Order: sequence, then C-alpha cells, then structure tokens
Amino acid sequence: EIPQSARTGSLPAESSVRTLLRDVHERYRDLQEGSVADYIPVLAEADPDLFAVSLAEAAGPMHTAGDTSALFTIQSISKAFVLALVTDAIGHESVHEIVGVNNTGLPFNSVIALELNNGSPMNPMVNAGAIATTALMPGRDGAAKFEAIQEGLSAFAGRPLRIDETVLESESASNHRNRGIADLLTSYDRLRIPAQEALDAYTRQCSLLVSSDDLAVMGATLAAGGVNPRTGRRVVSAEVCRDTLAVLASCGMYERSGEWMFEIGLPAKSGVSGGIVAVAPGKGAVGVFSPPLDRAGNSVRGLRTCAYLSRALGLNLF
Ligand code: DON
Repeated sequence: EIPQSARTGSLPAESSVRTLLRDVHERYRDLQEGSVADYIPVLAEADPDLFAVSLAEAAGPMHTAGDTSALFTIQSISKAFVLALVTDAIGHESVHEIVGVNNTGLPFNSVIALELNNGSPMNPMVNAGAIATTALMPGRDGAAKFEAIQEGLSAFAGRPLRIDETVLESESASNHRNRGIADLLTSYDRLRIPAQEALDAYTRQCSLLVSSDDLAVMGATLAAGGVNPRTGRRVVSAEVCRDTLAVLASCGMYERSGEWMFEIGLPAKSGVSGGIVAVAPGKGAVGVFSPPLDRAGNSVRGLRTCAYLSRALGLNLF
C-alpha cells in the first residue's frame, strides 16, 4: 500500500521528501523484473542492480537516494530537451506543422508509422520525429547542430555534459533501423540536411552522459518555467516549457503514454539505458535510473518509483 498525500500547490517539508526517497529506494531495490536493452550492443553490459533516485525542487533543494553518482547515456530523454531548444528557436507553430504532436500508438522505432502517415514523423519523441527535430536545430550542418544541442542540454543540466564514446561507437555501428528511418524521411522530403548528418547529430545527442541528479535538474528547469534551479540561468521561455510538457504528456512514454498518465499523471520521458524524468510543473522533477526495461522500453524500477512518488507526494496533475 503506497501512502497518498493530498494534492497541494507545494511539496511537503524537505525532511519528509528525503524520507520518502529513501523508502522508495528500499522498496524497489530488490525488484527483479525487466531486462537490460541489448539492441545497442554495449548497453547489454549495464549493471542491472544500479538504482538511483533524485528529486530536484523547482525552488532549488535537491534530494537523492541510491547510486546517484552512476553516469549513463541520456538516450531518448534527450528528445524532450532538444524539442525545447528547437521550439525556442523556431516557434510553436513550426514544430506543430513540421514535426507534429500526436502519439503514433506504435513503438518508438516504428518504420510503419511513417509510411502510414505519409511521411509525417507525428511527434518529436519517436525516433523519426526526434531525427527530424534535431535537423531543425540552428546550425549550418549536422556538426554545428550537435554543438548547439550539447551546449543547450548542458545548460538544462547546469554542468557541461560529455559524450560516452564507447556507446556512440556501438550505436553508430548498429543503428541500421534509424538509418532506414532517416532515409525514409529524406524520401518524403522531410529533412533539410543530408540524412546521415541528421542521424549522426541525433546519435551523438543520445550518447551524452548524465546522472539521475542531472535528469532531475533538467526536468526541474522545465518545471520552473525555463530557469535552471541549479544555476539560476534561463534556458528557454516559460511558453516553450508548456509546449514541451504537453508533448511529454501525450507522447513521452510512447505507446504507454495513456497508461502512464492514468496511473501517474505527470509529463515524463524515458530512455533505453534506464533513465526516466517525470516533471511536476511548478514543483520540481524526479530523475530515476535503473537499467532493466519493460517491453515498451521503459525502466521497470523507474516506473514503480515514479508511481510511488507521484502518489506519496501528491504530484498527480489530475
Ligand atoms: O535511437 C535509439 O534507438 C536510441 N538512441 C534511443 C532510444 C530510446 O532511448 C528509446 N526509449 N526508451
């Protein structure tokens, strides 16, 4: 039985948040469900026991439990923050028109979703939409676009993020499906730069290393209307945060987004290396890391942890 708080405009006192984080870590530490992703070969080597939970308050305080010093590649969670940077650069209307904001109802790496929708990537959270979104970043070529992404994601985290070269190499050598998706986008005339350049920039953004603390701070920046609580620096506008969170609510957990909203009620984004960020607007964000995944590619301990904290802290938006 998970304790349930009433929904209020603010988080409970710091000491009870800390206790709840310790409780949830202890509760799910020994859970043995799901399996580590292996379609990117080097990810199969991840330690399935790693488990870290961080909560960054929009107002600044930070709470942690578990292996919070573990670094892992951000993978699909990057899509949320690249969307924010692109929306800031090109505007709400253009994102709507060029990429789309509706759920595909299909897995994140679906090729058939593109074919069924006349080449529209549908939303920026599936791989097709993320590659198209990355191509919309400011910068004359793929390399310049990636540089802007690395700088922007570092501003969200409040510290410089660097690439895991081993994961980058492993994914670059095995991402045939994403290559197919990028080429298909080109065949539908949806990319303004060469497919390989867009794909390389996207693969690089997925290989940036973060900790659960970084995810929490990045999410808390969206929760705080675009100002990073760690640095006090504005990263994007409040309107961009609203747009980004709306897309996370409908598409952040892929074809499971409906169930996630039904159970947890928070905009969120997952990644195949086992990270999840869940954002409570105005309050803060939870960053979780645990490599074993369910069949949709979402961290099993991450899902349980977010469900627990949403209920116990009264975070559900509805
Ligand atoms: O493109 C890919 O397949 C990976 N770089 C990212 C996929 C991912 O994280 C899906 N999320 N659960």
